[in-house]
Amino acid sequence: MFLSRQLARRAYLRAPRRWSHSPAAALSGLNAVTEEDLAHFSKILPSSAIISTLSPSATPSSELEPFNNDWMNKYHGKSTTVLKPRTTQEVSEIVKWCNQRRIGIVPQGGNTGLVGGSVPVRDELILSLANMSKIRSFDDVSGILVADAGCILQSLSDFLVPHNHIVPLDLGAKGRQHFNNSCQIGGNVSTNAGGLRLLRYGSLHGTVLGLEVVLPDGTILDQLTSLRKDNTGYDLKQLFIGAEGTLGVVTGVSILAAPAPQASNNVMLALPKFENVLPLFKETKRQLSEILSAFEFMDRTVYDLAVKHGQGRALDPADVEGAECFVLVETSGGKREHDEEKLNSLLESLMEADEPLINTGVLATSPAQFSALWAIREGLTEAVSKEGKAYKYDISVPLHKFKEVVDKTREQLRQKGLLHDDAVRHVVGYGHVGDGNLHLNVVAAAYTPEIEAALEPFVYELVASYKGSISAEHGIGVMKTHALQYSKSPTSIEWMKRIKALFDPNGIMNPGKVLP
Ligand code: FAD
Ligand code: MLT
Ligand code: ZN
Repeated sequence: MFLSRQLARRAYLRAPRRWSHSPAAALSGLNAVTEEDLAHFSKILPSSAIISTLSPSATPSSELEPFNNDWMNKYHGKSTTVLKPRTTQEVSEIVKWCNQRRIGIVPQGGNTGLVGGSVPVRDELILSLANMSKIRSFDDVSGILVADAGCILQSLSDFLVPHNHIVPLDLGAKGRQHFNNSCQIGGNVSTNAGGLRLLRYGSLHGTVLGLEVVLPDGTILDQLTSLRKDNTGYDLKQLFIGAEGTLGVVTGVSILAAPAPQASNNVMLALPKFENVLPLFKETKRQLSEILSAFEFMDRTVYDLAVKHGQGRALDPADVEGAECFVLVETSGGKREHDEEKLNSLLESLMEADEPLINTGVLATSPAQFSALWAIREGLTEAVSKEGKAYKYDISVPLHKFKEVVDKTREQLRQKGLLHDDAVRHVVGYGHVGDGNLHLNVVAAAYTPEIEAALEPFVYELVASYKGSISAEHGIGVMKTHALQYSKSPTSIEWMKRIKALFDPNGIMNPGKVLP
């Protein structure tokens, strides 16, 4: 019995993987929005909430461009119509109509997603949550915040400041000055975004307490509970966390905010070699223990790109000399003196060691310096995009393999003759060490089939060889549907398809995304 199971498993591992990508197939049987549909929508929404190139709206198509193109300008839809409901009831009526008429719907939050999930594959209707931005309630005893799905993450953070709480999630797309798009809490939940605070506060699967969701037939599923504990059968909300809009539209979120730390510090550590990252992480965890709140890695090349493209304030040249990579460490705790003492003694022990793991450490001594150090890390995505067209691979691999993945990918491109200024300019790595999540970015002069063919399935095969995940936090979107097989077994994919068919038998919700 044991032997035969082993043989079956080996056969599965050896089976060749199919490598074809046809997201448009999911749209067969779906209809485009017509003028008749628009007439119906105008009974539900005011004209200011409808943007359409169809009559009678006849908006110029340029006004739909920000909705049809993704943040990287890599994925392009051709939707004629964007609807911006203000209430859950309006969402429900729109979805119900679309289900009856078999019209595909793409829920859209801040459109900062990095896997093409938030824009149509073809001409699906775009349902923007931007007008649903009310904070419904906040309880400063329990810390439970209930908000519309369209609330911008930064607005929620700002709202919580006077209440001495923070959102247990932070990412570079939260809504910075001069930044075009800002992610929304509904988008964060729908992608199960990880970000910069996961090390400390855990994933949204733990901090989201309840959801309100409009199901694909228009039914409102009200699971907006604000209970810490609720063991009453299947936890349905978990299905929508990370579903990327394929199972319904998230309209409300109940989330457990964390008490605001009384003191936060950060330090940028310059390391002579990558091999020191792992022992440094171990030592940092040992010494800082409960006050460690972030441990973020970036290699030298991506640090230089951040500096080149004006993200944060460059460190002193003397501090970066000879550094192969950097780590940004943050502490958050309850008592400034206590935290500073711990951080200082960590730095002293690191600098005075016989074989120091770091060259230098730049410690922020003011709120402005604290923000400037974070700006370097949070600005990496933007820096990479300014440098060229980024192929972004967001993977989970064992921490000690981070550099190997970057090096092997660079070597693959070199062997294919693609490592030069007119093709691939840089191969860089950064990410969330504490979560084993590497962002492998290949920065090219243009998106070309040749580069893509050199990278895929190469990168996915590499990840699978380390038993890693092909998507640590960005999701599958349209980019990785055909690569899902590298991280999920045929049985898992089959059950995911059954769940999709159960919720959305007509396949109207975000067609062509997540599932192959
Ligand atoms: P969108 O991009 O609009 O949508 C993303 C997906 O969710 C789509 O499939 C969409 O259909 C679906 N969706 C959106 N809203 C809803 C809804 N209300 N109901 C149902 N489905 C919905 N990601 C991380 O995980 N960690 C990071 O650290 C991180 N940093 C980033 C930094 C930058 C500068 C940028 C540009 C992106 C970053 N991202 C990061 C990726 C992205 O910001 C996240 O995936 C974010 O959670 C997306 O939120 P959004 O509101 O922009 O969603
Ligand atoms: C990050 O960690 O900066 C984000 O996930 C975005 C990216 O991968 O560029
Ligand atoms: Zn990330």
